[in-house]
Amino acid sequence: MQVGFYGHVRQYHNLKQEIDGAIREVLESGSYVTGPTLARFEGELAAFCEMQYAVGVNSGTDALWLAMMALGIGPGDEVITVANTFFATAEAIWIVGAKAVFVDSDAKTKNIDVSRIEAAITPRTKAIVPVHLYGQLAEMSAIDKIAKKHGLAVIEDCAQAIDAAGDGFRVGQFSDAVALSFIAHKNLGTPGDAGAVITDRADVDKEVKRLRNHGSTARSVHSFGFNSRLDDLHAGMLSVKLKYITAWNDRRREIAQQYNQRLAGTSLELPYEKPGYRHVYHLYVVEHDKRDDLLEFLNKAGIDAKCHYPIAIHQQEGYPWGKEADPRPSLPNSERNAARCLSLPMFPELTQEEIDCVAAKVVEWDKANA
Ligand SMILES: Cc1ncc(COP(=O)(O)O)c(C=O)c1O
Repeated sequence: MQVGFYGHVRQYHNLKQEIDGAIREVLESGSYVTGPTLARFEGELAAFCEMQYAVGVNSGTDALWLAMMALGIGPGDEVITVANTFFATAEAIWIVGAKAVFVDSDAKTKNIDVSRIEAAITPRTKAIVPVHLYGQLAEMSAIDKIAKKHGLAVIEDCAQAIDAAGDGFRVGQFSDAVALSFIAHKNLGTPGDAGAVITDRADVDKEVKRLRNHGSTARSVHSFGFNSRLDDLHAGMLSVKLKYITAWNDRRREIAQQYNQRLAGTSLELPYEKPGYRHVYHLYVVEHDKRDDLLEFLNKAGIDAKCHYPIAIHQQEGYPWGKEADPRPSLPNSERNAARCLSLPMFPELTQEEIDCVAAKVVEWDKANA
């Protein structure tokens, strides 16, 4: 049996009529860039996230650096984040010309270890960028306290965690801006690149809107900016899919529970869900010292497992490419995570047969190899 890692095509088939209808509607409208479909989706997204503003942009990466730029972060500034994340988190810091300062991750949640943040703060520190890795929120209330004490901005990298929640707090509650990604494989994904900044700050909303559109807020009137708009075709498809995101995330949580039950008692380290948190399992990541062996076994058995992320940012070849960053940060937990992580297939359209097959193969490997 073959088990894929992504369910994009199945999702399209399940929603074919609605998606095709949304595409047709935009095509027939003749309005494809910053048109009414984008405006409608931005309103729907803001309402869904319980935030004042949502600005659609080209990608999650652009959402991160546009938010930083809108908050005035640039050359000479330091931004604290983690190294066990998708590369774009740090890349966005370098794009605005700031220094990326890596703090180690927590051994259990794999999110930023909040107890280590204060030691990394210097007079140049301007912001903290917590990443909600794998779909579980970082400890935002603790981050908020540190940020307030030191006068720092907070930008949430929420590329993997739309519709997640903390213990009594929601995404965006403790930050100046939140970056979302809608690239195809995200929990809310469109067939292409897309992202958004959500915020409660009117000044951030206004500035990101200006920056994403050639520095323009009125036709033919420009100041320096960029072209990073979310186009109406993607906005139309995302608008359809947004209605299903909670049900899809519930299904991801259900599949995670099944994996947890089936893999309990094996030698694998299973995902840690913080009590009271709503983890939305963008990825179901296990850890093992013999990760490469397990990966090869699963791949040979027809199961498409992957690693997120097998090379921490500071371990990438050529790091830091002349950009500002500590050349040899001490990040033992992030390095351990990179060396041991393995993601099992996780998407709402997985069938019971597929879930059973993945779990059985992992157990089979564990019995023979652990
Ligand atoms: C944690 C994280 N940050 C940032 C990004 C960048 O998003 P995008 O690919 O839409 O630019 C991604 C996803 O790709 C991600 O997983």
